Amino acid sequence: MCGIIGYIGSKNVAPLLFNGLKRLEYRGYDSAGVVVSQDGFHIKKDIGKVDEINQKLNLLDISGTSGIAHTRWATHGGVTKDNAHPHMDCEEKITVVHNGIIENYQELKRNLVTAGHRFKGQTDTEVIPHLIEEIMKRGRNFSDSTTAALKSLEGSYAILAMNKNERKIIAARKGSPLVLGVSDTGHFAASDIPAFLEHTKTIVYMNDYDVAELTDNSFRVFNLLENREVQRKIDSVDWDIKQAERGDFQHFMLKEISEQVETIQKAIQQDKKILDDVIQSIRNAHGVFLVGSGTSYHACLEASYVLSKVNRMHVNVVLASEFPNYEHFLTSKSLVIAVSQSGETADVLEAVKSAKTKGSKVISLVNVIGSSLTRTSDAFLSLNAGPEICVLATKSYTSQVALLSLMSYALSGKYDEGKKKLTYLWNEVYHLTSLSVREKIKELAEKLQDKDHLFLIGRGLQYATALEAALKIKEVSYIHAEAFAGGELKHGTMALIEKGTPCIVFVSEENEKEILSNAIEVKSRGGYIIGISPKNNEIFDFWIKVPEVHNENPIVQIIPIQILAYQLAVLKGLDPDRPRNLAKSVTVK
Ligand code: F6R
Repeated sequence: MCGIIGYIGSKNVAPLLFNGLKRLEYRGYDSAGVVVSQDGFHIKKDIGKVDEINQKLNLLDISGTSGIAHTRWATHGGVTKDNAHPHMDCEEKITVVHNGIIENYQELKRNLVTAGHRFKGQTDTEVIPHLIEEIMKRGRNFSDSTTAALKSLEGSYAILAMNKNERKIIAARKGSPLVLGVSDTGHFAASDIPAFLEHTKTIVYMNDYDVAELTDNSFRVFNLLENREVQRKIDSVDWDIKQAERGDFQHFMLKEISEQVETIQKAIQQDKKILDDVIQSIRNAHGVFLVGSGTSYHACLEASYVLSKVNRMHVNVVLASEFPNYEHFLTSKSLVIAVSQSGETADVLEAVKSAKTKGSKVISLVNVIGSSLTRTSDAFLSLNAGPEICVLATKSYTSQVALLSLMSYALSGKYDEGKKKLTYLWNEVYHLTSLSVREKIKELAEKLQDKDHLFLIGRGLQYATALEAALKIKEVSYIHAEAFAGGELKHGTMALIEKGTPCIVFVSEENEKEILSNAIEVKSRGGYIIGISPKNNEIFDFWIKVPEVHNENPIVQIIPIQILAYQLAVLKGLDPDRPRNLAKSVTVK
C-alpha cells in the first residue's frame, strides 16, 4: 500500500526522501512524488518506479531541509501523474501526502467545488489540502485548520501536511500506520521504521487520532479524541539497517529465505513469563479463534492441526476477512489469537475490533512491534523476524509456525522438549537453504517455468503446507497453482489432470500411504509428480529430499517451495520482491 516519509531538520532533505522512498518500495506502489519546502514548494512526481522517476526528473536535485514524499498505490483515481501525491490546494500553499481512504471524499469534494476550489486529479486525498485551505480562509492558522479538516474526514488516514509559510510538518494518523523518528539532526515521520532506520532508531509510535507537529528540534502530539495534548513514549528499536538492506543478495526474497536459519531460532526466544500468561489465557478461554489473512492464515491452519493432535484441543481457524461473520459466537470468555506479520492488515484489525466489541480477549503474534495490532491487543508475542521487505511472506511464516508450535508444546507442559526440537531445526534449515539445494530446485524450476497450471496436494499438516506453497508460487511466478487436501482431487479436479500436468506432493511419515496413493491417481492420468518427501519413491518424477521432523514438517517442507517460487520468478524475468498488483501491508478492507 502507499508509503509516506517526511523530514524536517538540518540535513539536505532530498536524499533522505529518495532513500526513504526506496525503502518503502516493498509496500507496493505505482507512482511516487516528493515535495521540498524552500522559498515555496518544489514538487516532482510521476508514475512508475522511484528509480525511473529519478532518472526522468532528478529527485535529488532539489535543495531544502524539510519535505515530504509518497509512494502511491492507486485506489481512488487511475495511475496518472496528476493523481500521484503530493497534492496541493488551489493557491499551492498547502501540500499533503496520504495513505488510507477518505470514505466521504465525494461529499467533501462537492462542497469544495461549490465553494470554488479547483481539483487537478481524481483522488480522495486531494480534498485534504483544499479543506485545510478553505478553513484557513476563515482566519484560522495552519495547525488549527488541519485539525479541523481531520475531524471532518471519515475513513482511514496517515497524513503528512506542510504549509509554505511555516516551518513544520503536521503528521496525523487514524487507522493507517505512521511512526515518528527522533534524531539530533531533525524529525522524521514515515509509514514504517525502515524508511528512516539509517538515521535513527529512536522512535515514537503514534496512536489513532494523534496529530503531531514536527519542527527541527521538537515534536508535540495532540489527540483528537481526548481533545488535548498527550505525551507519547520515546522508544527504540533494535533493528539493524543491515536487516533492511539486500547486502550481497540479488533479491530480498532470497535473503529472507536464507535468514530463516536464524529467524526460526529468534521466534522461539520468548519472554517465558509473557508466554506463560498467554498459555494460561488459552487454558482459561471458552472458545479459541485463530485469525489471520493469506500466509498468516495458513500458519493458523497449521497450528490447528497441531493443537488437535498434540493438545486434543479444538480451535476455530478463521480468515480475518470472514471473521465478522463469526462474531455471533463470541463472548467475554472467548480468546482471539490474531496472527500477522505487519500488524497493519485491515481485515485483521477489523476482526480484532469485532472481538473487542464482544468483550473477548485478544492476543496477537506480530512481527512489527508498535503496529496497530500490538497496540490493540491485550497481549502480544513478537515473531522477532526483523524487517521483512520482500512482498512475499517467507521468514515471517516459518517464525509464525515455529512460535505457534512452541505454544502448543508449552500448552501440553512440554516447553523444554518443544524448544529443543525447534532449536534442532537449525541444521536442517541451514542445509535446505544451501546453494546445492537451491541449484537442485533450479533444475525443477526450469522444467516448470512454462507451465500454466500446477497442483499441490497434502494431508493434515501437509494440506496447510500445500495451501501456503500454492500461494507462494502464484504470487511471484504468476503460474496458476492450486492446493488440495489429498483426498479431494478425485471429487472433481482430477478432470484437469492430463499428460505432463505438474503435481507437487507433500509426504510425511504420518500420511505416507494415503498421500502416495492420491499421487498415484494423478500419475496414472499422466501427471508429473514432484515429491517433497523424506524418502524417494518410484512414482516421483522429481524428488526434493526433506527431513522427517514430524510436527515441525511444515517448516522444512515449505522452504524448498519458497526457493522454487523464487527461482521461477527469476527464470521468468519477474521481480520476486515486488510482484504485480500486490502490496506488503494490505491496509484496506
Ligand atoms: C503472502 C503474503 C500475504 C500476507 C497477508 C497478511 O506472501 O504476504 O498473503 O500474509 O496479506 O499479511 P500480515 O501477515 O501482515 O497480516
